[in-house]
Amino acid sequence: MNQAIEIKKNIFWIGVNDRRTHLFENYWPLPKGVAYNSYVIIDEKVAVIDTIERSRMDDYIESLEATLNGRKVDYLIINHMEPDHSGAIKALLCHYPDLTLVGNSKTFPMLENFYGVHTNLLEVKEGSCLNLGEQQLNFYMVPMLHWPETMVTYLPKEQLLFSGDVFGAFGTLDGGIFDDQVDLEYLEEEISRYYSNIVGKYGMPAQTALKKLGGLAIRMICATHGPIWRSHIPEIIAKYDKWSKYETEEGVVIAFSSMYGHTEKMADLIGRFLAEKGIKKIRIHDTSKTHPSYMINDIFRYKGVILGSCSYNGGIFPTMETLLSELENMGIKNHYLAFFTNKTWAGGALPRFTQFADKMKWEIVAPHADASGSPKSQDVEDCRNIAYAMAEKLKA
Ligand code: FEO
Repeated sequence: MNQAIEIKKNIFWIGVNDRRTHLFENYWPLPKGVAYNSYVIIDEKVAVIDTIERSRMDDYIESLEATLNGRKVDYLIINHMEPDHSGAIKALLCHYPDLTLVGNSKTFPMLENFYGVHTNLLEVKEGSCLNLGEQQLNFYMVPMLHWPETMVTYLPKEQLLFSGDVFGAFGTLDGGIFDDQVDLEYLEEEISRYYSNIVGKYGMPAQTALKKLGGLAIRMICATHGPIWRSHIPEIIAKYDKWSKYETEEGVVIAFSSMYGHTEKMADLIGRFLAEKGIKKIRIHDTSKTHPSYMINDIFRYKGVILGSCSYNGGIFPTMETLLSELENMGIKNHYLAFFTNKTWAGGALPRFTQFADKMKWEIVAPHADASGSPKSQDVEDCRNIAYAMAEKLKA
């Protein structure tokens, strides 16, 4: 789908779908692809809002040229410099050499570093306005959503917000582009995974931005990924509010690392004991099989986290280490925590788990279980104790 779509009179979506890239930022899986949304406003002046990742450059430029029907682009608004949105800047400059690049004081050093571009710049600040003719653009800084230079652009006449990554989603736009034209149920996990994986580290900046933007009348939110929000605006804002406050549901994520199945048995025991106590939302993940993206997403959703690892070369298992360092990096807050470990001749996982607990400051609900090989009767009781304590905390 490369045709421009008019979303308001003389305002067009000119995004592209990417079904080829396996990993967003070369790390996060894209099983349903991703869309890069760009927009163009045709007025006395023509403004493009953000561009796309460079892999679909030809389609993008073709679509833009067809939409403009011979007119030139006067302004490119750079809300965010990450290359999934800035990837076409140089191509636009080649096509429209008189183009003015609009950003803020933090945008331009990145522009120079990424693309060697340092001319035709117009710097805007919080509250700055840019007149296009009938339409006026207002700019608001939303640092760390998702990078320090990030800003959003508001069109007061249409009450339309170009929100950058904020309110974005993984998943391509397979026909519809508005939230009421797409299958939101199908996209649900891709919306939450986009938040938890990409924006989730920045809960405080998200809260600040929501308060700042809360004063604006908004009829349409045009993010740079995922559907355009017009019929479910309160719902997506409520979701961001909840996620950025680290509010969770009753449920438990059990993530384990196991070489030959003994530690996995402990995970299954704990899962069973949780179910005995009425916990229904139990997600058991093998860290060797499941990408951290999905475990992090579940941890954003559920309050209880129980982590288990065998020892490996005197330390923790490598895929559990990856998960722990991701969680530490993201600084996710407000969870209940417990551990289980397993060893053959010497422990090694526990010191790393203890370090993790100290860093995260999550509440530990029970002493850890520590088996040697296949869990014995005392290990089973220790697993039961973890599960019952976790269930009690969640039900309190
Ligand atoms: Fe979609 Fe932070 O880029």
